[in-house]
Amino acid sequence: MAKRPWKYWSPTFQADTVCPMNPVWPWGGHRRFAYDLVRWMRPARVAELGVHWGTSFFTFLQAVKDGRMAATEVVGVDTFEGEDHAGHYGPEVFDTVNRIIAESFPKQQIRLHKSLFCDALPHVADESVDLLHIDGLHTYDAVSEDFETWLPKLAPEGIILFHDVAPGTGYGSSEFWKELSEPPTPRSPSTTRGVWACSSRRGIPACGSCDRSASKTRSLSTPTSLAPSGPSSRSATSPAWPTNAPRASASRAR
Ligand SMILES: C[S@@+](CC[C@H](N)C(=O)[O-])C[C@H]1O[C@@H](n2cnc3c(N)ncnc32)[C@H](O)[C@@H]1O
Repeated sequence: MAKRPWKYWSPTFQADTVCPMNPVWPWGGHRRFAYDLVRWMRPARVAELGVHWGTSFFTFLQAVKDGRMAATEVVGVDTFEGEDHAGHYGPEVFDTVNRIIAESFPKQQIRLHKSLFCDALPHVADESVDLLHIDGLHTYDAVSEDFETWLPKLAPEGIILFHDVAPGTGYGSSEFWKELSEPPTPRSPSTTRGVWACSSRRGIPACGSCDRSASKTRSLSTPTSLAPSGPSSRSATSPAWPTNAPRASASRAR
């Protein structure tokens, strides 16, 4: 991953013209961070598990578009039917997502898989995803399976974002993250790749997340000590996460 300074952008999120609730929806508070992250990373491929109305999906796309990352592919996977946590919904969601793509991101490289996460696996090459966002069903078993099955898709210096994993969400995803991030770490041999990040609930910066007041967070040491140890990994003295890490998640985040 190229070393470049972290910048704080002030983007206009075009999807908001169709979905004006984006800023206050559960992922809304993480958008500025995610946008800055994509601008900083310049990933070749972003993959998202759980698109729904696209608050996060269109954040990634906005950064790709504004950053003129013409070769970057953004892959979104969702049944577009919902589940017990997100709620069950009809075809209007998929239609709206496609409408926003057509109106605001016609030139971006986008693949939407209207399928189960597992059914999209054969369509994404191993070690090809620079930024993976896991935001499906938030039970422990579901997040665990999404992580285990998609981890091989992660590029050697890739980053995974997990949503709804901060303490106190009441979701199994928080429990999963707790296990994943507490030392001793390795759940599988593959944890030697990438760094871990999460977008936290209620504005609580969690492991590898973002906050200018980094002294109150576990910002750098945790992800670097968690993950890199393989040949392509960075050492603990060469952290992959930017040291001038950006703003904290907004307080209206879920
Ligand atoms: C929490 S929502 C995603 C929220 C979205 N990232 C955002 O920014 O608002 C979870 C979505 O994951 C989808 N989903 C959950 N489990 C899935 C699975 N195993 N395969 C495909 N889609 C799934 C649901 O249909 C739902 O739309």
